[in-house]
Amino acid sequence: MRLWIALILLLIGAGIVQAHGTEDHEDDDAEAPVIAEIDIPENLTYQEHVRALVEANCVGCHSDGQIAGYAPLTSTEEVALAAEDIKFHVIHRYMPPWPPSREGLPLQHDRSLSDKDIALIAGWVDDGAALGDPESYVPAATDRFHLPEIRADLTLQLDEPYTPAEDLLDDYRCFALPLNISEPMFITGYEFLPDIAEMAHHAIFYVVDADSGRAIQQREAADAEPGWPCYGGIGIGGRHDSFGGWVPGAMPLRFPAGTGFRIERGQQIVLQMHYNLSISRQPDQSQIILELESADSELAEIMILSMSAPVEIPCPTGVEGPQCERQAAIERVGDLYGQDARYTPDYLLRACGQRLAHYAENSGEAASGSCDMIARGSLTIFAALGHMHELGSSFSLELNPGADDPLLLLDIPRWDFHWQGTYQFAEAIRVRRGDVLRMTCSWDNSMSDEPRYVVWGEGTSDEMCFGSLMALRN
Ligand code: HEC
Repeated sequence: MRLWIALILLLIGAGIVQAHGTEDHEDDDAEAPVIAEIDIPENLTYQEHVRALVEANCVGCHSDGQIAGYAPLTSTEEVALAAEDIKFHVIHRYMPPWPPSREGLPLQHDRSLSDKDIALIAGWVDDGAALGDPESYVPAATDRFHLPEIRADLTLQLDEPYTPAEDLLDDYRCFALPLNISEPMFITGYEFLPDIAEMAHHAIFYVVDADSGRAIQQREAADAEPGWPCYGGIGIGGRHDSFGGWVPGAMPLRFPAGTGFRIERGQQIVLQMHYNLSISRQPDQSQIILELESADSELAEIMILSMSAPVEIPCPTGVEGPQCERQAAIERVGDLYGQDARYTPDYLLRACGQRLAHYAENSGEAASGSCDMIARGSLTIFAALGHMHELGSSFSLELNPGADDPLLLLDIPRWDFHWQGTYQFAEAIRVRRGDVLRMTCSWDNSMSDEPRYVVWGEGTSDEMCFGSLMALRN
């Protein structure tokens, strides 16, 4: 797949997603939630008013053996015990996890609760969380998530289990998974099955060409364990595109009807795993399930377009010292990740047509980075993904900002490092030649444990403003 098209693309083999662990929301300095004024019945009971809601919206994750496993909400007793906690998470919209706001365009598989559902759950808890009569329970009619079922035409798995090294707390490891297809195919959908859920922080899938085989062998030979270390990117030169990834709670994905991501004979998938080892360290043999169609089918070829914007985050107010110098930050990423990392901050400014002065207003508490990309041809966009690390506070993607017909495509007002994903638009978006796509990220450096000037870098304590679009060229 080629990326010559359409947008001014800044291709940085970026780590896409990071997510892990539990988070203690109770410590958040949260704004008081607004519960909509909605007419709800009196004397709310669990069986009559809440159970079906919990079953449809929560149990998918909150049951044994599911990714979250936390606080199983499968039985009446479990729910009753957690009532106050449930109300707290629901009224703050922490649960179900769904960071995009309704200001952006409607999205598929929207997990957020309606105002009425929130009012019912909160009202039930306020009324004393009565259980009620099991006879009054009416099961929910449909599966709200409308998850696609992915046909397992090809299952890729680590050849042998990999156990992360003892001395690492975060392990970025890449594994080559040969496709072994005898003719070109289209991937039409995928699902990732983490082997050890509490250790899987994120996964990204790249496709690499046959001529990367030697480089992969060399990397694999460097130590005795399966795969190779690949902190940020995959550590292999040549062209490689990512067609997807996984974070906890991520859903199986099917590409839009009539489209597919093309793969060729001889290509391999490189799976980049980020293991977070704070909870467990066990042998891992995760799987990617692919649904395939023949390349002879009339499918249109999906492109993945990547975007990057400058990251220029000063120290928070009151923090001073050499670590607050931009140059020191650049030297630091250069030493850690190599020459490319050293050039990236200036490269991003130039590529976005900006100078450093553009970010003179950035402060440690409120810094932002933004890049406009101009479409060089017409496109149809199906899905978008944004990525930042832990200092991220908001993310947005706009079409033609400032024009007569601006469109806010994706709005994530409260960035949550733990919940990132690819969002599929309910209706595909048409982009005309000359249209402007603006990606904007913002950060709050006062959340940092070790505040310093932060620039673009692959590490968890560095930052990124990265986005990608799933699109068709028209
Ligand atoms: C997509 C998966 C998913 C869905 C759907 C979901 N949760 Fe959660 N929930 C989690 C995860 C994972 C955590 C752990 C904290 C975190 O990562 O944010 C969590 C944490 C919680 C907690 C905090 C206590 C704990 O177990 O850590 C409560 C309470 C909770 N969820 C309630 C709910 C309710 C109520 C719903 C439905 C209205 C819901 N959740 C839907 C995944 C989910």
